[in-house]
Amino acid sequence: MADDRQPNRILVIHGPNLNMLGQREPDHYGSQTLEDINRLMSSKASELGLHLTAYQSNHEGELVDAIQAAVGQIEGLIINPAAYTHTSVAIRDAVLLLNVPTIEVHLSNIHKREAFRQHSYIAEIATGQITGLGAAGYLCALDALSRILA
Ligand code: DQA
Repeated sequence: MADDRQPNRILVIHGPNLNMLGQREPDHYGSQTLEDINRLMSSKASELGLHLTAYQSNHEGELVDAIQAAVGQIEGLIINPAAYTHTSVAIRDAVLLLNVPTIEVHLSNIHKREAFRQHSYIAEIATGQITGLGAAGYLCALDALSRILA
């Protein structure tokens, strides 16, 4: 936890294809863009007194690099690894390095979809998983981290 004078620092990691939100399968992912979601999160983070940084990449190694760069620099993580949720041991291992409360978020309910989406490499190491609440899930994740870190 950060000391009393410093806001808790939260990193939000968005995985591949989430830069296409708004155009991408709106029945699953809604009509808001990633910029909309980041804006909503920034405003919620200000209300909660959290310092927020958001990062998106379509590349697994870049996501690993961004997570590694945050070691010792953040108090909490919100991550939607997108398709890498179901494939990436590398992202899971990087998240373990961070050793901070971690909320896994999915816009769609991965448990109601194809079998290959129902396993998450992150779920077993996350503090919690929020799935199927659309953009509101990210705001719930901020609330949860704010309470966990209080
Ligand atoms: C997703 C679900 C994943 O299965 C998919 O590959 C995504 C988005 C979601 O937010 O619902 O890209 O993580």
